[in-house]
Amino acid sequence: MNTLAKLDRAHVWHPFTQMRDWLRREPIVITSGKGAVLRDVHGRKYLDANASIWTNLHGHQHPKINAAIARQLRKISHSSALGFANEPASLLAARLVNLAGKPLNKVFFSDDGSTALEVALKLAHEFTRRSRGPKTKPRFLSLDGAYHGDTIGAVSLGHIDQFHKAYGGMLFKTDKVMSPYCYRCPFNRAKPERADAREYRKCNWECVGKVEQKFFAQKKRGNPYAAFVYEPLLQGAAGMIPQPARWLKRVTDIARAHGALLIADEVMTGFGRTGKHFASQREGVPPDFLCLAKGLTGGYLPMAATLTTQRVFDAFLGEYEEFKTFFHGHSFTGNQLGASAALASLEILQSQVSKITRVKLETNFAQKLQSLWALPNVGDIRRAGLVAGVELVRNWCTREPFALRERAGIRVCEAMARRGVLTRPVGNVIVLMPPYCTTPAEVRRMVSALRESVTEVLGGRKEKTPGF
Ligand SMILES: Cc1ncc(COP(=O)(O)O)c(C=O)c1O
Repeated sequence: MNTLAKLDRAHVWHPFTQMRDWLRREPIVITSGKGAVLRDVHGRKYLDANASIWTNLHGHQHPKINAAIARQLRKISHSSALGFANEPASLLAARLVNLAGKPLNKVFFSDDGSTALEVALKLAHEFTRRSRGPKTKPRFLSLDGAYHGDTIGAVSLGHIDQFHKAYGGMLFKTDKVMSPYCYRCPFNRAKPERADAREYRKCNWECVGKVEQKFFAQKKRGNPYAAFVYEPLLQGAAGMIPQPARWLKRVTDIARAHGALLIADEVMTGFGRTGKHFASQREGVPPDFLCLAKGLTGGYLPMAATLTTQRVFDAFLGEYEEFKTFFHGHSFTGNQLGASAALASLEILQSQVSKITRVKLETNFAQKLQSLWALPNVGDIRRAGLVAGVELVRNWCTREPFALRERAGIRVCEAMARRGVLTRPVGNVIVLMPPYCTTPAEVRRMVSALRESVTEVLGGRKEKTPGF
């Protein structure tokens, strides 16, 4: 085992990782990356098939982002936003506002997805108390299967028992409401015309009805929800679950009608992942808070932003001694290196070449994924733009899932790593999220590594007829 691997095993505690499993094998130690390829300490190459946990946009070592950071390094790496403005953060705020569109015109910078959510939560909480009266106890509604990060506020919004239940005693209470999961629709509407279709027959929008009921019930209790928190178009950690077309518009219309603020968590869906710059733009639903992180810097540096409106901003204006100030901030808020990387990344994202490349990549990605329907252990293939989740099941006819302790997703990802393709499952869902620079040959390799690994690990060799 090489020295770096030994040091890691001796001292590093990895996130979301059972360290007993980790200590059983030699870890892959990444030493460099270029484009969609990562290289380890032995010189082995791997495809970065989940964009380094959903962060990377344009590939590693992008010359323009590297140059922007190097230019900024020659000026200054960091000065505090508590008391001072700085060049790249001001430019970035203006650019983000322009990209997001009205009515979002204020930007609060922080460090990562979780803190972007904390900022939105605290602002929404305080805004509600100021508009409804100081005795109000603002209450939040989020979606079943929600994951919004690992800080206490973000965990309070989360509804994945495996991640969140243990901390119950530390959290504040939020409510959850059904989110659409058409493949496992409890109303038994999951009979698509074709296996890969997103339009479902006979759907009466029962899941939307559930949202409406929840809002009515809360209003009856005399304390309408302060805010509705959601990942637009696609719930990531829930299992890459796309929402059917028009779901977002319908539920946000209901939330608005009940006076709730909208908090859109686009930590994963932002920056072109689902086609538009932001997933909220797909159905024309501007939120009151837009939370961004991961791809903000092209996946280079930890930086986040919470965009909000003039209306919210104004509620925090007052004389010094009124203490209406938003008492929140982080040491590295508005960091110059992060902001420079973000500016360069947005420049690339908005270029014509990048747009054309993404459209071609999406077409290619969608086509290649089709071949996986033939595998008996593939129950569902879900895709929104350049994100896909492939749900592994014991039996595709009955949709019987694998028990989590069977580690089907993990074992398939380990087999993919042996084939030179790196990704991480969410439960039994294998995530493919290619960086935007991924070539057609690399897409083919990602998909064939997945196909071969499913067959090797889960054994089902009898091909099924594509479609139901
Ligand atoms: C939708 C969503 N929100 C928030 C987060 C938390 O982001 P971070 O890990 O940067 O704190 C994540 C992370 O995966 C996410 O997917």
